[in-house]
Amino acid sequence: MSDFFDKQLLGKSGEFCTVIRAARIAAITDVTLLLLGESGTGKELLAQAIHQHSNRATKPFIAINCAALPEALAESELFGHIKGAFTGAISDQQGRIQAANAGTLFLDEIGELPLNIQAKLLRFLDSGECQVIGKTQIEKINTRILAATNRNLYTQVQQGKFRQDLYYRLNIVPLELPPLRKRIDDLEMLLNNFTKQLAEHHNLAAPNYPKQTIKYLRQYKWSGNIRELRNFCERMLILFSGKTITIQHLPKEFQEKQFETNALCLPETGINLKNFEIQMIKQALEKTYGNRSQAARLLGLTRDAFLYRIKKYMIDYKC
Ligand SMILES: Nc1ncnc2c1ncn2[C@@H]1O[C@H](COP(=O)(O)OP(=O)(O)O)[C@@H](O)[C@H]1O
Ligand SMILES: [Mg+2]
Repeated sequence: MSDFFDKQLLGKSGEFCTVIRAARIAAITDVTLLLLGESGTGKELLAQAIHQHSNRATKPFIAINCAALPEALAESELFGHIKGAFTGAISDQQGRIQAANAGTLFLDEIGELPLNIQAKLLRFLDSGECQVIGKTQIEKINTRILAATNRNLYTQVQQGKFRQDLYYRLNIVPLELPPLRKRIDDLEMLLNNFTKQLAEHHNLAAPNYPKQTIKYLRQYKWSGNIRELRNFCERMLILFSGKTITIQHLPKEFQEKQFETNALCLPETGINLKNFEIQMIKQALEKTYGNRSQAARLLGLTRDAFLYRIKKYMIDYKC
């Protein structure tokens, strides 16, 4: 029987499946989990799947974004307050930790939590003790915490912005979702799934993506990850319902060739451009077993321009 993981968290690539396998195992325990990964890689969806797969599934799942909590309200949002606890506390307010009692609280962008609240959260994680602002007695609450961040929390620890003890407490089982560019073999399946789902939702005919377009999309850097892909599918559906999507149909940012060029990043120490060019020409000749027309094509040059360079640099290549 397929479950929330199978139905919602789509993907077959190795790195992704390794994370999902670990998440399934961790889900049925009560351990605190730290979900890592760039924005849009599926951290919140994974948190929901973990909750659904745990023995807390019938109890509340509450998500809060720590970055959206004004510092002055963060403590009260998490732990609650009683009427009169501070100016403006006109009535009792339950905290999110209490509201998620017996269930799961997902703390997104945990790195943004103010330092003084981090201390209270650590206390709660260690003892289950929760102090409502303005109340003297302490309550025991049974809420499981799942935390997420797209930042490097360890760097924040080193900068003094995140408590080291809380970092270690959260980092017991880290689950790191890979960015889409590192699981690019999943792109076509995700694109087809989103297109089908969205076409049904909007009651529109799905557009069709030929191999050539898919090949092109695989080279795009997808810095917004799966969220960006889903939004892209929706935009293409709305604008080109029922049509065949060619490269010319793609939005401007795709035409601007914002592609992965990490392999060709200029090192801090600089390079010798002439030697680099000679190396590239030699490698192109090696790759094509000395076929000059093919080698020229690999470098985006005409045959004449390529031959000119071979002569200029006196490159002597023999198979
Ligand atoms: N593996 C996946 N399969 C299908 N949809 C996914 C997957 N991962 C993420 N999504 C979708 O991508 C979007 C962004 O996911 P989200 O969990 O909000 O990412 P994050 O919290 O890391 O920013 C959501 O619409 C989510 O449903
Ligand atoms: Mg998110």
